Amino acid sequence: MKKLFVLASLFSVNILSAQNTIVLNADKGKDIIDKNIYGHFAEHLGHCIYGGFYIGDSNKTIPHKDGVRLDVINALKKLKVPVLRWPGGCFADTYHWQDGVGPKKERPSMLNVWWGNVKEDNSFGTNEFLNMCEILGAEPYLSGNVGSGTPQELSDWIKYTTHPNSSSPMTDYRQKNGRPNPWKVKFWGLGNEAWGCGGNMKVEYYANIYRQYATFMTNWNNSDKLYRIASGASDDDYHWTEVLMKELPAGMYDALGLHHYSVINWSKKGSATAFSEEEYFTTMKRALQMEELVTKHSAIMDKYDPQKKKHLAVDEWGGWYDVEPGTNGAFLFQQNTMRDAVLAGATLNIFNNHCDRVKMANLAQIINVLQAVILTKEEKLVLTPTYHVMEMYNVHQDATMLPVEVTSNKYILGKDTLTSVWASASKNKNGATHISLVNVDAKQPQSVSININGANYKAVTGRILTSDKLQNYNSFENPNKIVPTAFNGAQLNGSKLNLNIPPYSVVVLELK
Ligand code: AHR
Repeated sequence: MKKLFVLASLFSVNILSAQNTIVLNADKGKDIIDKNIYGHFAEHLGHCIYGGFYIGDSNKTIPHKDGVRLDVINALKKLKVPVLRWPGGCFADTYHWQDGVGPKKERPSMLNVWWGNVKEDNSFGTNEFLNMCEILGAEPYLSGNVGSGTPQELSDWIKYTTHPNSSSPMTDYRQKNGRPNPWKVKFWGLGNEAWGCGGNMKVEYYANIYRQYATFMTNWNNSDKLYRIASGASDDDYHWTEVLMKELPAGMYDALGLHHYSVINWSKKGSATAFSEEEYFTTMKRALQMEELVTKHSAIMDKYDPQKKKHLAVDEWGGWYDVEPGTNGAFLFQQNTMRDAVLAGATLNIFNNHCDRVKMANLAQIINVLQAVILTKEEKLVLTPTYHVMEMYNVHQDATMLPVEVTSNKYILGKDTLTSVWASASKNKNGATHISLVNVDAKQPQSVSININGANYKAVTGRILTSDKLQNYNSFENPNKIVPTAFNGAQLNGSKLNLNIPPYSVVVLELK
């Protein structure tokens, strides 16, 4: 009898440990998931701009509008890119915007010193970028040059782009360059990685410089205020956040940045496609650290800003591996596998769940660089697994976040563990609820039981992104190897929803 009892309890422990549970608090929605959490980043780096977005006005082989690829525009419109950060990155603190306006033949060339010393002919500049954002329906986020620029230069950029006609020589200059009216440019970054390529500054010094630059940054129009983003911390540099919160006057900034890359080891990053389970595990460990980073940076901000009026903008994030064999090491061109899909899905769930503080995030980078959503090779274009995750998740944009309580199994590798199941949920303006779920485990499927509180759903549908190998990717030869498919595996019984998620898969469910 005693033996039987021991067996029975062992058995039940097994069953319990195999079951992940989620409580969906469908009636506790309070905060909006800012659509800008689904933002992107484009730098003058490798083939992000040239060959990615821009192929030149005289290109005869690839369809374009004013030199911007139409296939790229169409793909990004489907993604609903809300905001696009430009022109860098490290490039931003070497960029002098006036080199990139006016007649193209008269624009000076320079060397792109951060990214391979290649010639930058400035044929893609402010007008080209802002016009492209209008076509995309994305808000521009301009990263100002604080590292090697001047307050005057940044103030002039604001005048050139946003001030009303005939209000300064800069606005006359804009009209002379063919733009009849101002653009709408709300988001402005004051330098990039001021602690590194943006000037190797100490935070105390940067805080002073920030105040100086911010003083002259205004559109002098209170109804259309600029949103100023300070160059934020790297990873777990909490001192950086603490000093900025202490030293920046509240009226001078709206958000602090934060950069975090999921890199295995800066001197040995590993292949983007031929990786072991150990490497996958380490990448995911770095990626999931985002939960801790956002929590702790936010807790510091809470001390100075308990009402969360100041935001966190994770304006660079993503996976970083070795470049593809045979490509320029400075161009950061890497393939994109199911590892990246899982990384993106889990990270976006973290951002959604922290949407009270995280109001913007920018995946690095949008085309042909790092964890890109699009890869191009001459006239060919590939949508990566990360693209598909961003597209599946765009249902969360501007929806009300519904809190979820996740009790998850552990993904075990050797002596180390990670949480297997990552989830977030939201309710959109039409009343539909979406739950996005990721199984990080590389080997075990996860059975998930969702207890629904505060709603009475009648139907569930879903989509899944999965593949038979973690290392699979979409290539120029086989661009549709990994695409989202219908997911019919979720069973709704009253207030219970049950499903199984295959290893390294991303699922988005819709409940009505
Ligand atoms: O995204 C590539 C580089 O990474 C950016 O230029 C820089 O800000 C970061 O270090």
